[in-house]
Amino acid sequence: MTGHPTATLAPHGLRCEHLAEPLGIDEPAPLLSWRLSSPRRGDAPARHRVRVWAVPADAPADASTGAGEPVWDTGEVSDAAAVSVRYAGAPLRPRTRYRWEVAVTAVDGATAVAGSRFETGLLGPPAWRASWITHDTGDLDVVDAPEEGELALADHGLQPAVRLRRTFTTSAAPVRARLYVTARGLYEMRLNGRRAGDAELAPGWTDYRDRIDYQVHDVTALVGAGENVLAATLADGWWSGYAGFDPRRSGAHYGAFPQLLAELHLDHADGGHEVIATDGTWRTRRSPVRYADLLKGECHDLRRDTTGWDRPAFAAADGWRPAQVTGTDHGLLTASVAPPVRAVEELPARTVTRLGTGTGGDRHLVDFGQNFAGRVRLTARGLTPGTRVVIRHGEALNDDGTLYTDNLRTADATDVLIAGDGPEVVFEPRFTYHGFRYAEVTGLPALDAADITGVVLHNDIPWTGDFACSDPDVERLYQAIRWGQRSNFVSVPTDCPQRDERLGWLADAQVFLPTACLNADVAAFFAGWLREVRGAQSPGGAFTNVAPRMTGVADEGAPGWGDAGVLVPWHLYRAYGDERFLERNLDAMCAWVDHVHRHNPDLVWRHRVGPHFADWLAPEPTPRELVATAYFARSTDLTARAAEVLGRQDAARRYGTLAGHIRKTFAERFVTPGGRVAGDTQTAYLLALAFGLVPDDVVPHAAGRLAELVEAAGPGITTGFLGVGLAAPVLDDCGRPDLAHALLRRTGPPSWLYPLRHGATTIWERWDGYTEERGFQAAAMNSFNHYALGSIGEWLYQGVAGLGQAPGSTGYRELLIRPRPGALTWARAAYESVRGTVRTGWTRADGELRLEVSVPPGATAIVHVPTGDPGGVHESGVPVAGADGVQIIGTEPGALLCRVASGDYRFTAEDPSAAVP
Ligand code: BGC
Repeated sequence: MTGHPTATLAPHGLRCEHLAEPLGIDEPAPLLSWRLSSPRRGDAPARHRVRVWAVPADAPADASTGAGEPVWDTGEVSDAAAVSVRYAGAPLRPRTRYRWEVAVTAVDGATAVAGSRFETGLLGPPAWRASWITHDTGDLDVVDAPEEGELALADHGLQPAVRLRRTFTTSAAPVRARLYVTARGLYEMRLNGRRAGDAELAPGWTDYRDRIDYQVHDVTALVGAGENVLAATLADGWWSGYAGFDPRRSGAHYGAFPQLLAELHLDHADGGHEVIATDGTWRTRRSPVRYADLLKGECHDLRRDTTGWDRPAFAAADGWRPAQVTGTDHGLLTASVAPPVRAVEELPARTVTRLGTGTGGDRHLVDFGQNFAGRVRLTARGLTPGTRVVIRHGEALNDDGTLYTDNLRTADATDVLIAGDGPEVVFEPRFTYHGFRYAEVTGLPALDAADITGVVLHNDIPWTGDFACSDPDVERLYQAIRWGQRSNFVSVPTDCPQRDERLGWLADAQVFLPTACLNADVAAFFAGWLREVRGAQSPGGAFTNVAPRMTGVADEGAPGWGDAGVLVPWHLYRAYGDERFLERNLDAMCAWVDHVHRHNPDLVWRHRVGPHFADWLAPEPTPRELVATAYFARSTDLTARAAEVLGRQDAARRYGTLAGHIRKTFAERFVTPGGRVAGDTQTAYLLALAFGLVPDDVVPHAAGRLAELVEAAGPGITTGFLGVGLAAPVLDDCGRPDLAHALLRRTGPPSWLYPLRHGATTIWERWDGYTEERGFQAAAMNSFNHYALGSIGEWLYQGVAGLGQAPGSTGYRELLIRPRPGALTWARAAYESVRGTVRTGWTRADGELRLEVSVPPGATAIVHVPTGDPGGVHESGVPVAGADGVQIIGTEPGALLCRVASGDYRFTAEDPSAAVP
């Protein structure tokens, strides 16, 4: 590097397909991306070069260089905007590790390099050789009579989980061992008594009729020379257990018995390669898990356990039978694209209260202090053979301090342990999860808080956002919003984790998405779910209400629900700058718009509205045709823009013109010449203003009326799911951030803080899930862990802290830093964008406001510096007019507007509190 400046601009955070060092990439042209950082103001990339090498199987895991010629070399690419490339080298080979490097050269000529790796999966059906295998199902028909505390298996149609095993001998420990595995059902794999991988509830929920995900586990450390045992436990899961509110087991949807498909590939130092695959040589037996169901719970009968079953030197004789081969079809297998569900955190018990003795023995109530999705791990002591320990789960308590479970509907959410010989055992169910804060444990004479732990499960999405401010209530709200996301990103984005529902409702996902994308990197998670959304679309173009599609859940997409098939890809494209979100979905988007148009040629969407949920759970109703037509306009407009981005000019023109006609129809039909919107509800104005459906000349009137309505309500909020995420941003855009703050601060119902003041640790499904006057809402639909109303989270980042993206920008190339201090004294937010770290933070004290901003290299920002005196703004101690990298572009009431290049900035200004409410 002699003669070159020392690099300050550095790539980091390398990803392949939005994942860090993934195993099992089946995408033939994976996206390779990097982030940038620099301590220097104005630092920006000028060009990059990416090289990719295939790495031999026996190279050390951390090999820092590839071997020989790269399989791809982009050469020097002059592109100041790029932070990713799509692989376009020699065709990727299956089961191959690739090392890649990106060299980024800054505008000053200095170059810095970073490296990472990824490994391909089996890259399609021809490479597979395993058979689907299952237990001899006849054996499972022998269903035991239920015992105390258990569910009646026969009544529920539940069946035992089964074990499968096979031994194999290998002459030497392999240099690399990979397990490619999936199930119709849920699997847990073990190798020589140890768990293979850490994925939970794998392979996850897809519409198994269309697609089955497989996972790849690095098991090199688990295989040794000599005899080895590859073993599995298989349970029902979504495949053959209960799912949704359908009273049938999902056997009716997918299949009756779980099946396993696995291949263990061993690569040896001498170049040898062995495969151990599922086939008829495997042996199976009922497991001690008498049943395991996602909704009902799990029952372990340790009297039936056989230790050593998953290790060598075990005689699989008694009760073990040959596995049955059910097929060899591999056509639906694809490597999973999302980070798996994992046990990501453990919550200690806050309190354990003895409730007394009842049926089944002594009862204790455990409070984990946090509503979440997962399970408990219990160390049960003082057991005698046959002792039953029953664990029930719930989100709330009755007035008398007992567990409240009415709102779970038919989800029993009950786990049972039946003791075997040992006096002490650690019990943790594997094939179920519950949404709960409290657990009631019956059957143990004593329970110490140290003996029970809450295990939090969700897709292991990397957390990218952080927010804090001077109001502890608002901070608690932010934490509750995050817990809502954590509790409901379990294989698919669910509405709730506790009752017999847990479905991938489309509207819930679309309204919460902007918040979700700031909290975490959900690009890969939603790329997976969008396959389900597309897969569920009807031949006529209708998206559904839930994905994966479930028979029995009103199929045809309602306004705002079906539209998620358009809104979700568009928002992901904007947040992550990855055009493939549009490429993969554009045809489906067009088909959706065509479907709505075909049935509503006069452009008012009133036919084929599915179950029309309107502004779901709103305290005041908004006209249904207005809600529908607003979404029709929105979807059509975004489809046109997506087509434009992809250069599909015909489609862009066609949908652009149609969007214009719908806008006009909307205005004629629903907006008076004076700017009143039909229904005169908050949601009516919010949809019309947010989607650009109010004619320009009357926008101020409509905005004014919205403000009046908000004020008249308390100030308060009266929207349901479709209006809620728009309230604060639209009020802010209309020049009334004070009202957005008023909504945030409100403590009476309906509000965000009312639940928090009444014990909530997650966002409730309904504004009035519990009120002082009436107690709990009707149990038939009252979840305490729904993320939809948490979509205010976006404005905490964007409004309160001021961390946002400019309207036309994608992938955070152009930031909009526009803090709205309200009555707070400080706030800050950080966000790990695809381009690098964005930060904002402001404090006010002694009449002065300080604003700190970090803009990642290659990005620019429009900064609204809140101030009562635009002429007195300084940056890093110098008057802003002379500050390095800062350009003044104007003023607005209460703020000075600047454009800044990348880097860290510190503005000081007169506190605007006098000028801006
Ligand atoms: C779910 C939702 C969903 C709604 C449809 C409810 O049962 O919990 O969140 O969007 O139905 O209206």
